[in-house]
Amino acid sequence: MLQNRHLLGLENYPREDIQTILDTAFSFREVLDRPVKKVPALQGKTVVNLFFENSTRTRISFELAQKRLSADTVNFAASSSSLKKGESFKDTAQNIEAMKIDAVVMRHPTPGAPWHLTKFVDAIIINAGDGTHEHPTQAILDMMSLQEKFGRIEGLKIGIIGDIRHGRVALSNIYGLITMGAEVTLCGPANLIPPFITDLGVTVNHNIDEVLEWADAINILRIQRERMGIGLIPSIREYRRLFGITTERLAQHKKEIVIMHPGPMNRGVEIDSSVADSDQAIILDQVLNGVASRMSILYLLLGGKIEQPK
Ligand code: CP
Repeated sequence: MLQNRHLLGLENYPREDIQTILDTAFSFREVLDRPVKKVPALQGKTVVNLFFENSTRTRISFELAQKRLSADTVNFAASSSSLKKGESFKDTAQNIEAMKIDAVVMRHPTPGAPWHLTKFVDAIIINAGDGTHEHPTQAILDMMSLQEKFGRIEGLKIGIIGDIRHGRVALSNIYGLITMGAEVTLCGPANLIPPFITDLGVTVNHNIDEVLEWADAINILRIQRERMGIGLIPSIREYRRLFGITTERLAQHKKEIVIMHPGPMNRGVEIDSSVADSDQAIILDQVLNGVASRMSILYLLLGGKIEQPK
């Protein structure tokens, strides 16, 4: 079992617990290849997916993970709830918990909102992305995909490219990868990389070609136009010229670099379609591993039982 009752982020998260989550995720990955992709591990448990911000992958992935584990699932979308009539976040959460739920998976635009929720409710809280802060389950599925591809995480050289400042995926990946013994280099425009980020044990290099020459794998982050306001990059065209991952740029490096992207992708901006759809991209493996990772996290936090296949 895991040392923390909730999964709020990967900052200071124990290495042995990350390894337990990954090992368990690989067991569940095997379940997803069976003709009947379902186990009764969380029968009788109820999980609410509380999404205050848009999502495709994370919301569907969590819902599928819950269904694959035979949990009861309820989806909540803030846009069609009584929040629109002025109900507070606290009242909304406490009313949902009064209906006897076991866990809440929450995405919220405010950094720290899942931590805040732990003060109002007794249910187990899983952070599905809190503003520009953390996205721990994305980092777990990214590490699972690296382990699947390379057979290890320790000693891997990982470049994280793009908007680090607004990217919760970046921060959770940094915490997780450093804890698991990988080397991490960040690359992007100087104003999209926070100045003290090197305190976390990462290197910063603004030269994309040097990073590509060094890396075993790169995780390409989206330019988050909705969080940026106006003017943080001169133009999308300029960004693509300096940091965009194109087939021509990759061809200059006589080595195979594994390409990752958490989605959603801006094709033609941070990544070209020809790269995203190439054999060196593991982007859709990341999506599948997301279901197995989230099954693992739900199972370990909710104390489920696995029935061994006959
Ligand atoms: N990777 C990710 O969090 O995607 P969504 O925003 O679609 O959930």
